[in-house]
Amino acid sequence: MASSVVLARAPLPRHIGIIMDGNGRWAQRKNLLRTQGHLEGLKTAKKIVKAASDLHIQFLTLYVFSTENWKRTAEEVGFIMGLVKQHLKAELNFYRENRIRIRHTGDRGGLPPDIARELEEACEDTRSFEGLQVILALNYGGRDAIVRAVGRWLASLATEPSEKRLQHGNITEERIRGCLDNPDIPDPDLIIRTAGEYRTSNFLLWEGAYAEYYFSETLWPEWTEEDLRVAIVAYQRRERRFGGVGP
Ligand code: FPP
Repeated sequence: MASSVVLARAPLPRHIGIIMDGNGRWAQRKNLLRTQGHLEGLKTAKKIVKAASDLHIQFLTLYVFSTENWKRTAEEVGFIMGLVKQHLKAELNFYRENRIRIRHTGDRGGLPPDIARELEEACEDTRSFEGLQVILALNYGGRDAIVRAVGRWLASLATEPSEKRLQHGNITEERIRGCLDNPDIPDPDLIIRTAGEYRTSNFLLWEGAYAEYYFSETLWPEWTEEDLRVAIVAYQRRERRFGGVGP
């Protein structure tokens, strides 16, 4: 069915980030287990990936599992990890057919080895695709990402000849950015959060400095392509000034 939401002529966001919230509440409202909510959330994620690809969005970062989500029960954590692994295995053809590249942001070393391996294989398998890039934020925290970036930077200093160390010791935004997980990916233009929560929850802290935020009351499992289009139209109406003054 064709969408009734018509996008404006204004530029599309190049990079969209989504905090996919509300799986648990969706399940609770239906008297289902929370895990059922995640299962439904995964179906929505696939639909939104396809919609973003069809709209020619270049980058889509999905907040799948945060560095704080380990606080959940072992059962829920195990279920989400299993779901991700299963998705990467079963849906590789979907990504291939749509020329979608899978990437990762987060602490890969802290993931269960089988999940890390699956993720690495999916990233490798889709590396050459030039369509949408889907970045899975998995074991991701914005603060943790900055800490890891500084760690990389310090490690790189150690291998510099001593006369260059002082020069390279000048701390700049560009140097820190260059040490993030994916320095080539542009900052998100639009960050969406579903399920009526108004927090950033440690998502893209560095990169989201000038993102436009869009909050939706709809629970993630009920999100549709229409909701994505509405969010994009809202973005297209914003005036972005990046700290400057308007036209
Ligand atoms: C938040 O709902 C959602 C998550 C913790 C992420 C789970 C995400 C998926 C299963 C989709 C994965 C997508 C891909 C492409 C691998 P919540 O449990 O915090 O909801 P609540 O606030 O209502 O409890």
